[in-house]
Amino acid sequence: MPELRSLYLVGFMGSGKSTVGRLLAHRLNCPFFDLDEEVARHSGKTIPAIFAESGEAVFRQMEVSCLQTLLEKQNSKPCVISLGGGAFITPAIRELAAQTGISVWLNLSFEECLNRIAGDGNRPLLQNLERARELFGQRQPVYAQANIQLDAQSASPSELAQRILARIEN
Ligand code: S3P
Repeated sequence: MPELRSLYLVGFMGSGKSTVGRLLAHRLNCPFFDLDEEVARHSGKTIPAIFAESGEAVFRQMEVSCLQTLLEKQNSKPCVISLGGGAFITPAIRELAAQTGISVWLNLSFEECLNRIAGDGNRPLLQNLERARELFGQRQPVYAQANIQLDAQSASPSELAQRILARIEN
């Protein structure tokens, strides 16, 4: 991987972060991590259970501590990390990403994200669609702080991975 930097996939729920992240890790021959899976593994709970039992604020703290743990374990070895849709909104996560790697925003419309994940009961913040639409609007300017921004509306995961590789190789 050029300059041994990790890659962070950023974007709203349903934007394809994990799919594209797995492809990238495969092509770069480095490990892939999904921060949601790390949080679930460390806590021994599903994400809906964490939200229901402890609330969103606790989940956000878990995202930060799991990312710190993961980066410590990686010990500066590069990897690809798919962040949950709200993780990049937390300043500590943006700082960790900026210190250790390159962030890539997969930018899709709210409608397209919804098309891909509608009816998914595993996403607590998707249960109220009007609130989810508001969140989407509030988050766009923060996602836009990512180092690389891609229009991911109609590209396939493999096209997106290709475009990201081309950008980081330049
Ligand atoms: C969230 C997105 C989810 C998960 C949690 C909260 C969010 O991840 O972290 O349900 O705040 O947007 P995905 O983006 O992988 O669905």
